[in-house]
Amino acid sequence: MVLHHATWPEVEAYLKNSTGVVIPTGSTEQHGPTGLIGTDSITAETVALAMADITGALVGPTLSLSQAQFNLGFPGTVSLRPSTLIQVIIDYVQSLARHGFEHFYFLNGHGGNISPAHCAFQELYADQSLGLHRGAAVQCRLRSWWDFSEVNEIRQRLYGVAEGMHATPSELAITRHVLPAVSCVDNLPAPPLLSADFIKRHGGDNHEHAAAHRAQFPDGRVGSHSALGRPEHGAEIIAVAARAAARDYAAFLAGAEA
Ligand code: NI
Repeated sequence: MVLHHATWPEVEAYLKNSTGVVIPTGSTEQHGPTGLIGTDSITAETVALAMADITGALVGPTLSLSQAQFNLGFPGTVSLRPSTLIQVIIDYVQSLARHGFEHFYFLNGHGGNISPAHCAFQELYADQSLGLHRGAAVQCRLRSWWDFSEVNEIRQRLYGVAEGMHATPSELAITRHVLPAVSCVDNLPAPPLLSADFIKRHGGDNHEHAAAHRAQFPDGRVGSHSALGRPEHGAEIIAVAARAAARDYAAFLAGAEA
């Protein structure tokens, strides 16, 4: 069930059977010369909806604005400050918590969301620890669709080191599967590839300011050979990610530790 396609009595009925909700988190930012600006939102939402088909979970509205300041050097990028995103996540959770939701599963498509989301979760938990939260305790979990080992096996098998960090062939493969009419396959050559050390130090989109980022990565790709991403790969990645996320969501509802 999709929250914005439901009526309030349907949500009330859902809450009699489940206290879980899945929240896709994406971004609105450049994805190289051939990637859609909504790539991260499209990928997160697509995997979340496929996962909901398996689990019956309610899917909330996609958070399509993110912390993406490092991409503001590219036209079309819209960024929230990290502090704004933290507040948005807190308000989103507390609104639904008021109605009885307790388990908030963030299905993520953008590295820059990870740190602010974890800060927001700690703010929510702090309210509970300090006795400032009314109602049942809330629990939050964030998983990026590429976190699952099965998904990483596919990315490694298909692209190896050319997967890179941004405008990845795997994420573009998903958008090319979902929106073939607007997401054309490209002929771009490979960009300079990244060292494992660079990827480790800059994980979670830990980049500096926008001018420096554009100077370092002039076409917007961060070590990713986007052209390798084919629509048929996207179909496989969506299916595998949805199955893995469904398993993880069930464990989350059951109270299993990450
Ligand atoms: Ni992306």
